[in-house]
Amino acid sequence: MSAQCPYRVVREPAEVREVLHRPDDFGPANALLAVTPLSGPALRILQGARFALPPVLASNDTSSHPGIRKVVAGFFTPATVESMEPRIRQLAKEAAYEAANGLAAAGSVELVQAVAALPPAVVMLEMLGLPVRDLPELKAWSLDSLELFWGWPGPERQLELARSAADFYRWLRKLVLESVASPGRNLFTSLHEHGLSTPEICSLGYFLLIAGQETTTQLISTALFRLAEGSMGIAWDEATSKDKATELVRRVLADESSVPTWRRVASRDTELNGEAILAGEEVLLELTGNHAGAGASAPKGPLPYGLAFGSGIHRCLGAKLAELEAAVVVEETAAALPGATLHGPEPEWIRLLSFQAPRTVTVARLGSWAKAGTC
Ligand code: HEM
Repeated sequence: MSAQCPYRVVREPAEVREVLHRPDDFGPANALLAVTPLSGPALRILQGARFALPPVLASNDTSSHPGIRKVVAGFFTPATVESMEPRIRQLAKEAAYEAANGLAAAGSVELVQAVAALPPAVVMLEMLGLPVRDLPELKAWSLDSLELFWGWPGPERQLELARSAADFYRWLRKLVLESVASPGRNLFTSLHEHGLSTPEICSLGYFLLIAGQETTTQLISTALFRLAEGSMGIAWDEATSKDKATELVRRVLADESSVPTWRRVASRDTELNGEAILAGEEVLLELTGNHAGAGASAPKGPLPYGLAFGSGIHRCLGAKLAELEAAVVVEETAAALPGATLHGPEPEWIRLLSFQAPRTVTVARLGSWAKAGTC
């Protein structure tokens, strides 16, 4: 641990898994804390929106967690995820078709906006029984909130990001109240019936409406970037097969997942690998990039990407969905844009404590270009 890094960093996959499987020693209370302490003026902006993130799900270390988790898990059962595949494919095909047309017209196309941004958001809102609306705002708020809580914004930037988070939170509270009052099954009604208060539902919604789609957008972005770059040992045109697209996504999850780290905090004096750890010490777990056998030169066989979604009682509830969405979008994009290759300068990357992806993935035609087919 150094002055620059306030965390005890755990890199070894077996140790990361151990920490995640010792919830009584290492709790998630710090999972959603701002990496950079928020300034007074930024906090006042948030207070103006009655912004609060009481522990409900990802940061909940109390006995209420399993019951709440069960309610949320009911919206992402394996059968529900499987039944969504045709819808995911339809959205992916439509986006890829538009991207191919854009490329044919302009000579290049930016794939983060064209194919990665919207399908995960539409799918998540539909699965939660929530209205699909204000998607551009949701995408912008998501990036701003990730930077506010997992980035290193200076004082001025904090104010901008806090205003954005406050707008998101006001929008969310309206959506929660409207959803709870409306007939039909939706996540917020189910949480209300489970006994959660409006601030608790808003807290869960704030995390889930970001985590349930922006992380997948970022996974797709990195997968398409590495595919177009040709650095993963899988050629662009090979990714038109579902198996190859899935393999690519798993390689990215193993190597440079969109959620590269996650935090825990020691709830009492304990030890890890023979080293003493004091109560209150914060631990940064590396979830990706340290798995022997990952990378382009990885041997064939199952990939060790299991930690990308965490492990144990807080393991990601959207793991199957995210993997499926990413593979289908990659597959349909590769099919609609045959022979695409990276175009233009090296993109800027989102680099936050726990989130990473290229902000843009611009591709152009390589050689002769097949005209976009019908959707
Ligand atoms: C590439 C996409 C995604 C990645 C890399 C990812 C990663 C993670 C990680 C690392 C955790 C913390 C796990 C732990 O503490 O052990 C987590 C928690 C969670 N994720 Fe994801 N996630 C992704 C997509 C999704 C999606 C699509 C959803 C839902 C639609 C989702 C819902 C959740 C929930 C609800 C939790 C909290 C679970 C709990 O505390 O019980 N995630 N995710």
